Amino acid sequence: MTTTPDTKDWTWVTERRCEQCGFDPAAVDRGTLAERMRDGAACWPGLLLRHEDPARRPDPGTWSPLEYAAHVRDVAAVMHQRLGLILGGDDPTFPDWDQDRAAVDGRYGELDPATVLGQLALGWERLAAAYDAVPEDAWERTGRRGDGAGFTAYTLGLYALHDLEHHAQDVAPPRPRPLDVTEAELLRRSSLKWRAFPEDTLPLWVAEMDAHLAEPVRRTLLHAARTGDTGYPPGTGYAEAWADFAARRWGWDGLAVERTRVVPDVMQGAMHLVAAVTDPGDAVVVSPPVYPPFYSFTANAGRRVVEAPMGADGRLDLDCLDRVFGEVTRGGRRAAYLLCSPHNPLGTVHTAEELTAVAELSERHGVRVVVDEIHAPLVLPGARFVPYLSVPGSERGFALLSASKGWNLAGLKAALAVAGEGAAEELASLPVEVGHGATHLGLMTQTAALQHGEPWLDELLEQLDANRAFLGARLPELLPGVTWQPPEGTYLAWLDCRALGLDDGVGARPGDQSTYLGSAKAFLDGGVALSPGTAFGPGGEGRVRLNFATSQEILGRALERMARAVTR
Ligand SMILES: Cc1ncc(COP(=O)(O)O)c(C=O)c1O
Repeated sequence: MTTTPDTKDWTWVTERRCEQCGFDPAAVDRGTLAERMRDGAACWPGLLLRHEDPARRPDPGTWSPLEYAAHVRDVAAVMHQRLGLILGGDDPTFPDWDQDRAAVDGRYGELDPATVLGQLALGWERLAAAYDAVPEDAWERTGRRGDGAGFTAYTLGLYALHDLEHHAQDVAPPRPRPLDVTEAELLRRSSLKWRAFPEDTLPLWVAEMDAHLAEPVRRTLLHAARTGDTGYPPGTGYAEAWADFAARRWGWDGLAVERTRVVPDVMQGAMHLVAAVTDPGDAVVVSPPVYPPFYSFTANAGRRVVEAPMGADGRLDLDCLDRVFGEVTRGGRRAAYLLCSPHNPLGTVHTAEELTAVAELSERHGVRVVVDEIHAPLVLPGARFVPYLSVPGSERGFALLSASKGWNLAGLKAALAVAGEGAAEELASLPVEVGHGATHLGLMTQTAALQHGEPWLDELLEQLDANRAFLGARLPELLPGVTWQPPEGTYLAWLDCRALGLDDGVGARPGDQSTYLGSAKAFLDGGVALSPGTAFGPGGEGRVRLNFATSQEILGRALERMARAVTR
């Protein structure tokens, strides 16, 4: 029985992302093409062997895994021949190849799977080796198909690679989504989240995600390891990637690469900026409850933390900011405002109006604004992120960006400090060594995430949105005493547990993330590690912060444990 011939012209995959399989030609350059072919071919034995009978068609009109394997095997041979013609001739026309005819004539369905797999591996190795050997000046040499479609040596390689990867997905199990990671897989990781507490504790505390690595990031890491690419970072590619991302994602084209500095990470960058615009003993205003290092790092930098708490509605309290800005600048003292946008732990996504008001107040009082925008990629459906430096009056402000939260790359540190138009000189005045902290690996992987990781990010946001809804449904059932305001951004749920009556009012110091009292201790004793609210400063008493960037299975189990812990 024959399948319906595929009459589609697939040549566009050399220019555009394939929505069906996710192949993105822009993510494959000359240096990675052959490596991708080898990686792609290496998957096929596993793909075929997971089918009990690889010769069985899923339905009469669709090729069996064996037939796909034989097709992919032949694609390697055909493309090898075509590459040879391109390199040896002057814009040659390729002999025709009818893939459906080939399947029938070659009796694909009756072949021995092991033999096909061996031939497939050899064929793709031969093609990859031919691409390894393409001379530098030959990549743009051309050839054409009988139907007139033109290829270069490079685009022919992309075309072949897409075929290999696309059909692998035709026979593969559904790809796991970003947060579909099992507990067994997570326990094999060695980062802080899953190691700080005993194995039988579910850790929903520190802001790491239980996510699979985005494919562009994984490939970048693998490529670096294979090629020994572990030296110093060159150029401004990271800043350019942020500028492009900001324009595409947030419609903001004001991120000027010349007003950026690479910094080791967001908090170190923030502290360098605070040091540049204030003197020792000056005030740094923060809006608690807020990310605990805003307290501890600021104190360590010899500055005075002054609080302008968030309003009871979880939004910026502009009257309070006005008052506090006035107090801290009295007598002409310098001061900074360290703003978290989107806000950790409340998940508030500040609006353009709110940020414009902050800019106006800061200008009026002479307070310098340093905005931590690390959670900016993580804005959930229903809200829109507004870059601080895009609002009027923000020219003397600074923003800090990093892909580390959005793509879970805290172990691959790098961040970008961005100055408004009126703050460029101060940014440039940061000591030269500040730029030496970010690693080549951090910059490369974060750049790959920004350039090619948006489909992954969008899928992640869908799952986070679903988890937010799941929490909204399960919390009242399981923990009726606990209330919350669903976050607009981040993957953090700020849970008000005061009605449980477990908190005796004795709190830990703001910034202290390791003291577990009251409800945080009860949940920890019940097998779920959350972040104690007291670490986040005033407004944190009787609250805990729950990280919901995990599978719904783990999240559900954690909620059940939490319910048991407080109803014992
Ligand atoms: C608001 C905020 N800023 C900064 C960080 C830490 O980022 P970095 O490691 O780049 O300093 C985090 C991590 O959770 C965060 O939530």
